[in-house]
Amino acid sequence: LANGLALTPPMGWNSWNHFGCQIDEKIIRETADALVATGLSKLGYTYVNIDDCWAELSRDDKGNLVAKKSTFPSGIKALADYVHSKGLKLGIYSDAGYFTCSKKMPGSLHHEEQDARTFASWGIDYLKYDNCNNGGSRPTVRYPIMTRALLKAGRPIFFSLCEWGDLHPALWGAKVGNSWRTTNDINDSWDSMISRADMNEVYADLARPGGWNDPDMLEVGNGGMRTNEYIVHFSLWALSKAPLLLGCDIRNMTEETKMIISNKEVIAVNQDPLGVQGKKVRMEGDIEIWAGPLSGNRVVAVLLNRGPVRYSITAFWDDIGIPPKSVVQATDLWEHKTLERQFVDKISATVDSHSCKMYVLKPIA
Ligand code: GLA
Repeated sequence: LANGLALTPPMGWNSWNHFGCQIDEKIIRETADALVATGLSKLGYTYVNIDDCWAELSRDDKGNLVAKKSTFPSGIKALADYVHSKGLKLGIYSDAGYFTCSKKMPGSLHHEEQDARTFASWGIDYLKYDNCNNGGSRPTVRYPIMTRALLKAGRPIFFSLCEWGDLHPALWGAKVGNSWRTTNDINDSWDSMISRADMNEVYADLARPGGWNDPDMLEVGNGGMRTNEYIVHFSLWALSKAPLLLGCDIRNMTEETKMIISNKEVIAVNQDPLGVQGKKVRMEGDIEIWAGPLSGNRVVAVLLNRGPVRYSITAFWDDIGIPPKSVVQATDLWEHKTLERQFVDKISATVDSHSCKMYVLKPIA
């Protein structure tokens, strides 16, 4: 969407994956504090996004959405002011239907302009717009109404289409939003995560600065996967130019979680100005190579082992888009080192079960 936003994929946090409907303004404020205190905000994680369940079930007598008194007593404007005072941005959630997915608050269908004005007046910077309880009409009709309402609302607001891939939002999302879901909801397991990466990959050619494929939010740190699996999760999301929206409780995260989500070089792949989504370039049983171009004539490659045993994996220049015979310098993004030897034609590594290697490859001759 040409609203000047999302020249690189959005980064931040969202309440849903960890907290579901159990949210309140204290959690949001403490999360904003934690993003700053942990240094995550400096790495680019700036959106603090409230998901479902923040509003009263009924609108006020003028038809306005109102924050839930019991959990957001100070109101959303005060929360936005607080989040902005930390140098961060505030995101909110609504639905292109009569009720949101939880059915605990109203949706914005037929209230688009009023709600967009409300969000802008509160200082909202990001809207996630879900697709539940919509009465059965087409998302290609309902979503653009909110696009136009946001463009008129007088404040740049990132527009995240949460149509879960049913009507292929990747095919129509570029003019409607800044990101669009390509999958139904992720959960905190290897199978769920890796299958979302697969579903999202199909649409790689449709991602571009201003509009990104969204395989759903990160589960890193929520406890259902092993560290090596979370590293695969973070690596594939970065290479896929997916939104990097943290989904754990960052007020209480382990050093391991922090290590994964703070990897500057992996984040730099995600935020590379070229903005080209990487793809699967080779598949052989449990072994896959995912790769994509980066600025400065570089290439990012992930050597992925989806299987139960250790494999030796080789990525050939031919597959990953490096001219044949090139001499290449390789940086291992999880070892944080540029390898001493140089590589010609290919690079190989031994990769454990449910693990990956991630390299930035730079031809030097
Ligand atoms: C849908 C969305 C989720 C989350 C919930 C909230 O399932 O896909 O990301 O927003 O609704 O109810």
